[in-house]
Amino acid sequence: MIDFHSHVLHHIDDGSHNVDESITMLKMSYAQGIDTMVFTPHFRFGEYSIKEWLRLRQEKVDQIREALTEEDKKMIPRAVLSAEIEFHKDMNHWDYLGEFRIQGTNYIMTEMPFMPWTKQNMEVVEDILYNTPYIPIIPHIDRYFHTFTEQKYIDRFYRIPVMVQMNAIYINGVHNVPFFKPLFDARKIQLLGSDCHSMEWRQPDLGQAIDRLREVCGQEILDEIDARGREMLKDAIYIEW
Ligand SMILES: [Fe+2]
Repeated sequence: MIDFHSHVLHHIDDGSHNVDESITMLKMSYAQGIDTMVFTPHFRFGEYSIKEWLRLRQEKVDQIREALTEEDKKMIPRAVLSAEIEFHKDMNHWDYLGEFRIQGTNYIMTEMPFMPWTKQNMEVVEDILYNTPYIPIIPHIDRYFHTFTEQKYIDRFYRIPVMVQMNAIYINGVHNVPFFKPLFDARKIQLLGSDCHSMEWRQPDLGQAIDRLREVCGQEILDEIDARGREMLKDAIYIEW
């Protein structure tokens, strides 16, 4: 299976703290049946320039590569670079928006605000969807459930052709079956992610969520999600470890 959302790269955001932790997270994911990961470090406008952020991201990859042994390489998923872009009201006009796509594809992960969404927020995402070459992935839709986010906006994402991603932690939550099952049954969730951050805080846990989904929703839905992810990544440019 594919993990579309992860913070495995060290010291670029609030994810992994060092190379060893990154490698442990990769191995832990692979041991859970994850053969492909998308690296989605946060990009927050104003924190770094785009040039500096891209340099940092590549530097982290290079450091991990140098530390991996030949044995390690057999025990980690293949991986592709991308980003989790913090919502910005002008992001639809950034001339460098394409730098954040899953490399080799047209998918970009646009993180919605953690405050009540507005019509303008929705218009930014829809402008990207309809007026740029890029297709938004809406990460961790579950984070906006049971909050101040208006349901009509969440529902809109289920209707337009963006990719909606759910985090493993929500699927693993013991009381969440009545909330997530109808969404998967109605094919409203397209992608899965661990959104793993470190070994101390939010470890890789997608394997458990996959087992749970199989139990609750059946193998067919997992097969569909997996096939969709592989189709999305068919031209992806993977990191050469
Ligand atoms: Fe994330």
